[in-house]
Parts: sequence; C-alpha cells; structure tokens
Amino acid sequence: MEVFLTIGSSLHLKSISILVSYMVIGSCLHVYECAIALPKNVRVPAVLVFGDSIVDPGNNDFINTISKANFPPYGRDFEGGVATGRYSNGKIPSDLIAEAAGIKELVPAYLDPSLQINDLLTGVSFASGAAGYDPISATLANALSLEDQLRHFKEYISKLKAAVGENTTSAIISQSLYFVFAGSNDITNTFLLPIRRLQYNTSVYTSMLVNWATEFVQELYALGARRIGVTNLPPLGCLPSQRTLNGGLLRDCSAEENENAVIYNNKLCPELKSLKQKLPGSRIVHLDVYTPLLNLIMNPSRYGFEVSNRGCCGSGKIEVIALCSRFDIRTCTDASKFVFWDSFHPTETAYRYLVNYLLQRSLTEFY
Ligand SMILES: *[C@@H]1O[C@H](CO)[C@@H](O)[C@H](O)[C@H]1NC(C)=O
Ligand SMILES: *[C@@H]1O[C@H](CO)[C@@H](O)[C@H](O)[C@H]1NC(C)=O
Repeated sequence: MEVFLTIGSSLHLKSISILVSYMVIGSCLHVYECAIALPKNVRVPAVLVFGDSIVDPGNNDFINTISKANFPPYGRDFEGGVATGRYSNGKIPSDLIAEAAGIKELVPAYLDPSLQINDLLTGVSFASGAAGYDPISATLANALSLEDQLRHFKEYISKLKAAVGENTTSAIISQSLYFVFAGSNDITNTFLLPIRRLQYNTSVYTSMLVNWATEFVQELYALGARRIGVTNLPPLGCLPSQRTLNGGLLRDCSAEENENAVIYNNKLCPELKSLKQKLPGSRIVHLDVYTPLLNLIMNPSRYGFEVSNRGCCGSGKIEVIALCSRFDIRTCTDASKFVFWDSFHPTETAYRYLVNYLLQRSLTEFY
C-alpha cells in the first residue's frame, strides 16, 4: 500500500518518503521521492492514455509498423529485463502516473491479447509510437493514428459495458484520469515533409496542431471523459537526434526546433483553458513537460545525472528503434546517469523526475 503513495526509485529514501506521504500533503524531500497527494476520499478507477511512443507500452508490438522497441536493449532495467515494447530502459510516464495515483504498477497496451477484464477496468494505454496530432504522422510509420486510438477507446467502452454494465462503466469513464502525450513527431518528422513544409509556415502549422489537439479532447469529452491532461511539447531541439541533425558540429540544441515547440506551447495553453470553460464539468489540464525536461538537459548534475546531450544507447547521437542495437558495445552501463535512453526518449530515471514534476504541480487541477 505504501508503495502506491510514492513514486520512488532509490530504496534508501523510500522508507522516509512513505512516512512523509502519510503526513505531509504535496511536500517533497527529494526530486524522485515526492509524495503525490490526491484529494481526500478520491479513488481513481483507471488511467487511460493516448498519444505516441512516450506512453506506448507495446501497442506497436501487435501491428505491422517499423516503429517498435520490443527488443533488447530496450527494457534493460524493466522488471526481468523484458523488452515489452516500451521506448525506454524501464518504465514510461503512463506507468509512473498509475503508480503515483495508487492504481497499479504498469499500464498495459490495449492491443495486448492477454489482457483480462481487471486490466481493462484499471486502465490501458491506446498510444502508438510514431503517432501525432497530424494524421499523416502515424501513416508515415503505419502506426495507430489518434483516430485509430479513439476507435479503440470506443471498443474499450463496449467491453466494459459488457463486463460491468452501463452504470458502472459511465462511472469509470467519467472519474478516470486521461492523459494525452502527442505532438513531438509532428514537428520533428511530419513538418519536414514537402506536403507540409511547402504548404504551411510554422505559425500556421502549429495552429493546425493545436486545433487537432482540442478536437481530440472534445471527442474524448463526448465519449464521457472529464478529467483530461494534455502535455505541451518538450524542448525538441535538445533531443539528442535533433542536436545531431540540426545542431551543427558542436551538436547544440536546435534553436529553431525549440522555438517551434514554444510557439505551439504558447498557443496550446490558452486553448485548453477556454476548452475547459466551454465543456461543462470538464477538468482540462495543461501539463508542462517543456520546463522539467529543459531543467534536466541544462543542469544534469543538479538532478543527479551525468550526461544529457546524448542517449545511452550506442553512440547516443542517432540510435533509436531499429538503430539501437543490443550488440553495440558503446551503450552505457548505467542508464540512470543519462537523461536520454536513446536519441529520442528519456530514461526511466528522467521520466520519474518529469512525472513527479507534472503531478506535483497539476494533479489537483483534475479535481
Ligand atoms: C442505472 O442508473 C439509472 C439512473 O441513475 C438507474 O435508474 C438504474 O436503475 C441503474 N441501473 C442499474 C442496473 O443499476
Ligand atoms: C504564415 O502564413 C500565413 C498564411 O499564408 C500568413 O498570413 C502569415 O503571415 C505567415 N506567417 C509568417 C510568420 O510568415
């Protein structure tokens, strides 16, 4: 039970934070050991997740896509060292959120055929690596678009109804926490395509993305979701792959890509606020991932990291999905010293900091 109240990784601090989590609401001893406080008497029935590789626990294992992470060294620090399809060395944000909300340790992939009704009742992830708000993003890798994910969500609702009836299903659907992590692939990949770049400038394209994002939230709302968290974009220009591609000889952060992320973020926040006003009974929460990830990248040592400009896998400069090979002897031995696991995705340790930051600041806004 105690474990559910904290999202801790280092054992020596865990016992301290367990005590703290009983006594102190919203306080924090150490960045990885903050107790997450839900409002009194609140029980979250389920966590339901949509988006891209940041929160795909292996949906892509079950479809014919080039975007997969179900082979070593992915999952190297996961329980049993299994490569589940998660795009990291260990757990991903959806898992850490469910853990912090006291629901379960892992949020499974909706497409996993071994799921039992209990797994469905406590939440799943519909996310698919390579997806984005732009419908073209998923098609580039034959991944599941957000529209596909909504279709799966509707199917999920039918399954719940068949298992526990209409009323219990509506209670679960309305009281659960929803998270949408998307948009990165749109800017780093899809926006570079001639059919996008030649047709739209950054200003227009980021507005289109924000429109797609708000439409998606409205569709979730129409299906009964009420508590919906939407992330903004991380500092994309500082992802190791983008430093390599666009950062020059010194692999600086790409100022242009960071700027594009900021332009999008500055539009998303007010749109989500007005959506919240417009949709009765909704709690639409803007989740800032830009700030905490930039904190880690700019001041790694302050947070216990040693390297933030390249990933752990291989040279760390370009390796991601199929390029991240188990046979690459350059891969780091201790991923917890790295902010990035591969050239695009953070390590579990970085994700813990990120999720803690989000929940500490924003969990109460869901209520
Ligand atoms: C479901 O809820 C409705 C409205 O509150 C109620 O009338 C009905 O009896 C409930 N059905 C069951 C099976 O509990
Ligand atoms: C972007 O394109 C739109 C529509 O074509 C135009 O009105 C706007 O001035 C352009 N913005 C910039 C910064 O070039």
